[in-house]
Amino acid sequence: MTQDALKDAVAAAAIDEIRRRLDRDTVIGVGTGSTANLFIDRLAALRNDFQGAVASSQATAERLQGHGIEVFELNHVGTVPFYIDGADEINPRLEMIKGGGAALTREKIVAACAERFICIADASKHVTTLGGFPLPVEVIPMARSYVARELVKLGADPVYREGVVTDNGNQILDCYGFLIDDPVAMEARLNAIVGVVTNGLFAARGADVLLLGTEGGVERLE
Ligand code: 5RP
Repeated sequence: MTQDALKDAVAAAAIDEIRRRLDRDTVIGVGTGSTANLFIDRLAALRNDFQGAVASSQATAERLQGHGIEVFELNHVGTVPFYIDGADEINPRLEMIKGGGAALTREKIVAACAERFICIADASKHVTTLGGFPLPVEVIPMARSYVARELVKLGADPVYREGVVTDNGNQILDCYGFLIDDPVAMEARLNAIVGVVTNGLFAARGADVLLLGTEGGVERLE
């Protein structure tokens, strides 16, 4: 199976996971990226069964709206029963690295407001230890060099993701070479650097369920 086929299989599994729990008042949280896009495309068929969605990025909002799904501001919704999103890496404790698509800050905010985070990922994302994928850090533009120097002190090799401006008007440093043996502590440590908006470790609030696309079928890990 191709990676795209595995992504589509988990998108379909996520629809099965939530469809019985939708009602006309339900607003769900929707993530960003190619796996989330496949989920959105399948969600379109259910658009009359729920109220709408909160989007974790401008791109996701546009895709949802393109399917006739109403997009709500998070401030007008409060909590969402589900947040469905992909990941760049996920470990057996369902801690993740996210932000390959530069949407990490809004993803983390919507995830924080979700009763259940359902991660959808193909098998290539499942790792024993996080850190093979360069860890994205969103920074206030004027703090970029300062934050980069602080990241070097912590053992990373940060690379400015040139030409990328986040939906929040900020910049991204991709951190290579981090040894992430304690993701919860690392997440808090990076957040404490002045000028950091968010880092791509989703460990303090990881996923609740992982739908993992493998050659043998979709595995459900909780
Ligand atoms: C975007 C993300 C995505 O969830 C992550 O990059 C996975 O993307 P894809 O489903 O395209 O592999 O965190 O900021």
